[in-house]
Amino acid sequence: MALLIKSGRIITATDDYTADIYCADHAITRIERHIDPAACGPGVEVVDAAGKYVFPGFIDPHVHVYLPFMGTFAKDTWESASRAALVGGTTTLIEMICPGRGDDPVDAFELWLSKAQGRSACDFSFHMGVTRWDDSMPGKLRSIVERGIRSFKVFLAYKGALGVDDRELYHTLKLAADLGIVVTAHCENETLVDERQRELLAAGKTGPEWHEPSRPPAVEAEGVHHLMTFARLTGTEVYVVHTSCSEAVEEALRGIAAGVRAHVEVVLPHLVLDKSRAEGPGFEGAKFVMSPPLREASQCESLWKSLRSGIISTVATDHAPFDFETQKFLGRDAFTRIPNGIPSVEHRVDLLYTHGVCEGRIDLHTFVAAASTNAAKIFGLRNKGTVAVGSDADLVVFDPSYRGTISARSHHMATDYSAFEGWPVKGRADTVCVRGGVMVRGGTFVGKAGHGRLVPRG
Ligand code: URP
Ligand code: ZN
Ligand code: ZN
Repeated sequence: MALLIKSGRIITATDDYTADIYCADHAITRIERHIDPAACGPGVEVVDAAGKYVFPGFIDPHVHVYLPFMGTFAKDTWESASRAALVGGTTTLIEMICPGRGDDPVDAFELWLSKAQGRSACDFSFHMGVTRWDDSMPGKLRSIVERGIRSFKVFLAYKGALGVDDRELYHTLKLAADLGIVVTAHCENETLVDERQRELLAAGKTGPEWHEPSRPPAVEAEGVHHLMTFARLTGTEVYVVHTSCSEAVEEALRGIAAGVRAHVEVVLPHLVLDKSRAEGPGFEGAKFVMSPPLREASQCESLWKSLRSGIISTVATDHAPFDFETQKFLGRDAFTRIPNGIPSVEHRVDLLYTHGVCEGRIDLHTFVAAASTNAAKIFGLRNKGTVAVGSDADLVVFDPSYRGTISARSHHMATDYSAFEGWPVKGRADTVCVRGGVMVRGGTFVGKAGHGRLVPRG
């Protein structure tokens, strides 16, 4: 089915102009000043984008959907997560595959793929989590990379669970360098976290407000420094996920100055929420427990600054959805047992626009680059991340005049709470297309589960 988007203001990472866009066979085939719908043949759907922006489909390069973690499972399915993503303007998700240490990586890949394939309404890919190392790993990981999963994920945190030790890190990075792929990394010193958690609990400090002191900025900065040292020695391209503080950004910059090919990601919660949220009354603070933790408010501004200057290249979410009532409560007696994560896949684009563009912290081009184009470039999503003839017809017609309020009562994520309850938003994704298929119309999901495809990566 053909699609004609008329009179929208097209914004890419570099361009800003008004034109019509014609899409057929999953791709953008024409962009012209004026395309006559009558000359497009029968059955063309026309979307009036006058007064609206047309952005490339947004890409969230760091989400968790199927996630066995901290004694429970993340709440979303690919049906619910992809619906939420699309309503929020995100057309491609890259999920972290997180096998347990004893799991076979190929089995894990098949399992994670089976959760998304046939169920996701948006396009998707994965970062292959490497959670141990033995002689069988190179062959198995190579076979997964050959299937288009051209990035690994390592955790330098979560001791005894997902975390890798230095020998495992070294061999994973060497293999990635050999394969020419990027390694994404959660950087926190797991031993420091472990010891500080023990000390705090022993002192009776068990509430969610102690999560941040158990892993302060120095713990994260050490993790980034560690990664940079290993990346420099192995020549591996690395991507630091969910960077939460200026100390960590500075370590990445030092690595880059020393010759490391490194990219820095920030996630939406670290831009708009600060640690006072986790210090809320009663056990409410558990809603805001994620790792690395929410920081001082001044850190949020410093992250915005790094985003504006281009030091931070991507804004993801680290969507990790756990219910408050049944799951966050597992940590009622000890913050170390609160499942880590803040559900946010639905609100990355509208909150980035509201707090970034509308507040004058970033311009429209930085917004598009950070939420779409840069992730496409770093992770080899060749046909995504821009509006151009030949690109996938992943498009977001965005209405800047929309005004709304976020609530768990109306969101599409499966969780029983929103970390942004009652927050106003300016602007929203009005019409959203994935490879030419209209998935959202007037802000309402109209797509179907299973439309999404595993994206080829180069
Ligand atoms: O708190 C977080 N970030 N939860 C998800 C797992 C991870 O570390 O990315
Ligand atoms: Zn992480
Ligand atoms: Zn994560």
